[in-house]
Amino acid sequence: SWKLSSFLDRSCAEIRAKVGGEQVILGLSGGVDSSVAAALLHRAIGDQLHCLFVDNGLLRQGEVETVRHLFGEQMGFALHVVDASARFLAKLRGVADPERKRKIIGREFIHVFEEAARKLGPVRFLAQGTLYPDCIESAAAGHGRPAVIKSHHNVGGLPKRMKMHLIEPLRLLFKDEVRALGELLELPREILFRHPFPGPGLAVRCLAPINPHHLALLRAADAIVVEEIRRAGLYEEVWQAFAVLLPARSVGVMGDARTYELTAAVRAVQSVDGMTADWARLPGEVLSRISNRIIQEVRGINRVVYDISSKPPATIEWE
Ligand code: XMP
Repeated sequence: SWKLSSFLDRSCAEIRAKVGGEQVILGLSGGVDSSVAAALLHRAIGDQLHCLFVDNGLLRQGEVETVRHLFGEQMGFALHVVDASARFLAKLRGVADPERKRKIIGREFIHVFEEAARKLGPVRFLAQGTLYPDCIESAAAGHGRPAVIKSHHNVGGLPKRMKMHLIEPLRLLFKDEVRALGELLELPREILFRHPFPGPGLAVRCLAPINPHHLALLRAADAIVVEEIRRAGLYEEVWQAFAVLLPARSVGVMGDARTYELTAAVRAVQSVDGMTADWARLPGEVLSRISNRIIQEVRGINRVVYDISSKPPATIEWE
């Protein structure tokens, strides 16, 4: 629309005036907000923007490749992919408590980010895809709001101690406006209508001990869930759909052999804002295809269950 394109022009001019000839760093997660912020900044200052993508070893199947291809090759961003998976997985070894996982991942992310920023030389500006609702939420924290249920971590949560000037070009926008702006900036629908994915990634969906083997099982099961939901044309009908790996083993039969393997839970919910949610009434045939494929294709999982809990009292993620 006219309003958005003039917003875009104004933002670009403001960013250029503020940044001058300096370098800017941005933590790109591949989610909607950081992607649109990156595209806007790239439009304004080109290669003065450095996008940092941290592979924490807790990403979904194909995520690193997609980000490289889309942002690095197609959009031509100055993209720096940091493979920090070994570091994260070492820190998470043996950790089962959900809040501890979140704290460890949040802290490690900051370390990796600071290290990478230092390598880029003196960077004076940090850009983030903070939206209007994020600003309101953190301003309201502590004022009659309930105790922390989950300490959220995402790439927007970098600390004040980084002593950089903040650039938050989306801070006056709501989610739907951000998507529209993303369209104007020619980001593909695949990015703009992507399901939310938590900052701590697969760690909070892996209830079995976190190790490369369990993460590989979870990744494979999750990819099947998403693929079948897309194939059924339901991807944009649900708020989120994903797999969770449970530490429960059960007995099964495969051909004429006994199996004793892990369980995958399938979670699909409908929601408007993530604050409340109802489990999605997925068609039986879709659930059946998901279940058959996971059990056939993912050696190590021999049982699939469907999560029929709503939020509240359950949360969307299992941890
Ligand atoms: P819950 O599980 O609290 O999740 O019902 C509500 C929504 O928030 C997402 N979520 C997160 N997003 N960092 C994020 O950026 C996090 O640490 C985090 N934890 C949960 C969740 O996927 C759902 O959409």
